[in-house]
Amino acid sequence: MKILVVGSGGREHAIAWKLSQSKKVEKIFCAPGNGGIKEIAELVDIKSDDIPGLLDFAKKNKIDLTVVGPEAPLVKGIVDIFRKNGLKAFGPFKDVAMLEGSKVFSKNVMKRFSLATAGFKVFDNSLDAKKYLKETGVPIVIKADGLAAGKGVIIPKTIEEGLKAIDSIMVEKIFGDSGSKVIIEDCLDGEEASLLVFTDGKTIVPLESSQDHKRIFDSDKGPNTGGMGAYSPAPVVTKDIMEEAIKNVFRPVIDGLRKEGKIYKGVLYAGLMMTRKGPMVLEFNVRFGDPETQAILPRLKSDLADIMMACVDGTLDKIDVKWEKFYCISVVCASKGYPDEYEKNKEISGLKEAGEIKDIIVFHAGTKAENGKVLTSGGRVLGVTSLGKDIKSAKANAYKAIGRITFEGMQYRKDIGDKAIGR
Ligand SMILES: Nc1ncnc2c1ncn2[C@@H]1O[C@H](COP(=O)(O)OP(=O)(O)O)[C@@H](O)[C@H]1O
Ligand SMILES: [Mg+2]
Repeated sequence: MKILVVGSGGREHAIAWKLSQSKKVEKIFCAPGNGGIKEIAELVDIKSDDIPGLLDFAKKNKIDLTVVGPEAPLVKGIVDIFRKNGLKAFGPFKDVAMLEGSKVFSKNVMKRFSLATAGFKVFDNSLDAKKYLKETGVPIVIKADGLAAGKGVIIPKTIEEGLKAIDSIMVEKIFGDSGSKVIIEDCLDGEEASLLVFTDGKTIVPLESSQDHKRIFDSDKGPNTGGMGAYSPAPVVTKDIMEEAIKNVFRPVIDGLRKEGKIYKGVLYAGLMMTRKGPMVLEFNVRFGDPETQAILPRLKSDLADIMMACVDGTLDKIDVKWEKFYCISVVCASKGYPDEYEKNKEISGLKEAGEIKDIIVFHAGTKAENGKVLTSGGRVLGVTSLGKDIKSAKANAYKAIGRITFEGMQYRKDIGDKAIGR
């Protein structure tokens, strides 16, 4: 099987790494990839949202399966376009990729299928939105409708801050058309967890649970980031919560959409808030999480290529998906300045020495290989990942590996795993 992985982050490195273990996979390409993926795949210099470019490449190279990592090409309809051209791509079609592409679409789906979610109102006009905000006050949550690279959700501390956010999104249009509409929703309280499932539109197979760490600093302080680390399994997701989520979240959505003629294939990711009233849905993503994937896929026993093909072909019921018992933790090393403007082109040393430690996998995110060196090229640079018999030993081992890695300005959280320890 020849595979094309689309994307360039730690998630795509983990996906390519897992696929490279499959006996059925003879060759992996990655577009555009990064300095770490280069070791296991042939990099192709095509951007992840250049759909005509990717299609052309996949046709010429007779790619058997294209695996789409990030949301942008999915929301643009890459899977539909590939299918029209007789090519298989893992991921949802455009009509259901809107679960992530439009938060308004997503909230309406949640409402239609009676999922537990925060109460909300949709506005297409900044004056009405501001009027509503003044009436409700804080705490409240303001969300840009469309894709905003994880920056489109604001939880203002004061009404003034909220009014400003509405203006930036709807009037100044800092996220472009993604801010044509906003959602203003009730603020929920609780611990968050991510649940992901594989599905072919009928069969649903949950992935093991995981927990991301969104804030830049220890103890969940500071601004939100793309995610600073994750571990799997996440004890906050008990067996009961998992079962409840399948029954009350994933089943109603996937079956409900199918009855409307929309078949959801690929990975579906629900961001949940464990409130006092039970789990409530914050959002859906239509792809693997980053960095959750780096903590989940090392625990997958089964062949990822088989699972992905079965999702595309509608034969997931024939696949037995098995998981390893051990724990996995992935700690993100980021560039100085991240999540704001950050430094680039810093040489990374110690990668080999870190990788030599038992049970360590160093997934690359924002890196590039140049003249035999590995340089930083993004905000999140590495996902230092460790397996372990329990979360404590996995944590200790991951931080031991980080101790061997250096680049100027490197920052990372020191408390990834703590929430799970002793639970
Ligand atoms: N209704 C809510 N109540 C409290 N916090 C929320 C709510 N909605 C979102 N958040 C917080 O904002 C973060 C980002 O929101 P989310 O809906 O996941 O959008 P995105 O990931 O697209 O930025 C969540 O992970 C959560 O921490
Ligand atoms: Mg989110």
